[in-house]
Amino acid sequence: MNKAQPIGVFDSGIGGLSVLKQLIRFLPDEAYVYLGDTARVPYGNKSIETVKNYAKQCTEFLLNKNVKMIITACNTVSAVALEEVINTAGNTPVIGMIEPASEAALRQTVKGNVGIIGTRATINSDAYKKSIESKDIKNNVKIISKACPLFVPIVEEGIIRHPATRMIAEEYLSNLIKHNTDTLVLGCTHYPLMSDLFRELMPGINLIDSGEHAAVNALRILAENNLLKDNSENFSKRADVNFYVTDLPVLFDDVAKRFLGFDIKKPVIVSLPDKK
Ligand code: DGL
Repeated sequence: MNKAQPIGVFDSGIGGLSVLKQLIRFLPDEAYVYLGDTARVPYGNKSIETVKNYAKQCTEFLLNKNVKMIITACNTVSAVALEEVINTAGNTPVIGMIEPASEAALRQTVKGNVGIIGTRATINSDAYKKSIESKDIKNNVKIISKACPLFVPIVEEGIIRHPATRMIAEEYLSNLIKHNTDTLVLGCTHYPLMSDLFRELMPGINLIDSGEHAAVNALRILAENNLLKDNSENFSKRADVNFYVTDLPVLFDDVAKRFLGFDIKKPVIVSLPDKK
């Protein structure tokens, strides 16, 4: 492993760009390879076996791109298939979404009332709940989890400010609001884009962006292993990212820009070999 190698990032689709945005914020000098499995998104409603199989293929693709670290930018993969990714990655360090966000939630909650929202697969796995509970030595934290599957298409359709979205969000969050949730884990790539709405519906809420905390973790682990890219190697203002997708969806550019905040380079379309 050497400093000049890129960081590999993968997600079920475009959503992982919200994680890439955080990575670029904390690690602007790094080169990135981003893979979005856009042909098979969403993962959030699929079986664990299927997500494990897809996650393995995405990991192998990134390893072939000679990456020095793999970021499992998809919360669903992180919740149900992280072991698969770690086993496939061998010596290459892997960062998932669950552990860093769970630690942050525990650190930041004031009343001990933590809410977790995510896809069905993420919430059904209880990965966040188990992770927080295992770190909660004083046994102080009360957790309420809620699957919010409609938020993914809402964000991709760009209808976050639509009155119907507000009604759906009120319905999804009602139990969390009733139980005085003070810290909300955004356990899905798409949810950080809805932060303003969550703040309106839950005044004073402490939002945990899983991508942000994963990026901080990536920074720490690269630094500890002396693998941070020297900024003299890539002194450019533009982030150095090569994008790969398994399909090029209609409106890809618009949706990608909303997640990332800037126009992206044209992605290369690839197919992932199914070795199952
Ligand atoms: N990227 C997924 C996640 O963070 C959301 C989209 C999907 O269901 O694949 O869980």
